[in-house]
Amino acid sequence: HRHLLGLAGLHPWEITYLLDEAEQWVTLNRGTAKHDGRLAGLTQMNAFFEASTRTLLSFEVAGKRLGADVVNMAVAQSSVKKGETLIDTAITLNAMRADVMVIRHDRSGAVHLIADKVNCPVLNAGDGRHEHPTQGLLDALTIRRRKGRIEGLVVAICGDVLHSRVARSNIHALTTLGAEVRVVGPPTLLPAGVERMGAQRFTDFDAGLDGADVVMMLRVQRERMDGALVPSAREFHALYGLTHKRVERAAPDALVMHPGPMNRGVEIDSAVADDPVRSAITEQVEMGVAVRMACLDVLTRERRGIAA
Ligand code: CP
Repeated sequence: HRHLLGLAGLHPWEITYLLDEAEQWVTLNRGTAKHDGRLAGLTQMNAFFEASTRTLLSFEVAGKRLGADVVNMAVAQSSVKKGETLIDTAITLNAMRADVMVIRHDRSGAVHLIADKVNCPVLNAGDGRHEHPTQGLLDALTIRRRKGRIEGLVVAICGDVLHSRVARSNIHALTTLGAEVRVVGPPTLLPAGVERMGAQRFTDFDAGLDGADVVMMLRVQRERMDGALVPSAREFHALYGLTHKRVERAAPDALVMHPGPMNRGVEIDSAVADDPVRSAITEQVEMGVAVRMACLDVLTRERRGIAA
């Protein structure tokens, strides 16, 4: 089966194809009759071992709009709590003849492990610090719709890059599509080797923002830090918090993005997040449903007897 485990290694045409496919679902979702029955009869199982609002709900909405029977595994009330392993859980879902699985897990690589054990396409809804491919696609679609292109744009991905699967998927997607990607943040929160991924590294926020067409802020992920945030939340905001004054450093028509959930007043000020012109944050959520419909459709084509 074809899975969607990450954006690393995808060809530009594969990413562009998924974005192009998503466009029809943006149109459908903006109408009143938001239904297309092409996944009728298929069972989509969502298993989120880590909290989510946007990704879980948009995958559920996406599957239902395409006509699938969507089942959400309630992990907190499941036998995972009795110690059942990830693999045994996956084998159990597989035995119920899921046609597609959507998995989120707090461990990098956990979704790959499941993909190896089941007989259906698996979509990664975020695994640890590794990848969040549908987020990378929805961000690319948002940028492409707002800016008309991706190639040649300067995109600054800012903040807690170290713990961010969103950053990794975006770096892969945006460099593959020809953008100039900068990662910007405190040295303690920048991973080693971003240059190998084709990105430039900045520890000075103002320098990283200079002339950027897109400013993508990331959530400070305290749950993935062993101890206290270094620098502290207050220092972080002073050095790397996106304010109206700071955003003036970027291009005059710079787009402000954030995958959510936001720590308002830490990595981004409310005045910027809610800016009606610059902010694309709610549009990102809207694009999330369309992109997930495209991915569910494309990945289940083989199963539906359609040439993929
Ligand atoms: N952006 C994102 O993945 O949000 P959730 O954690 O709410 O799904």
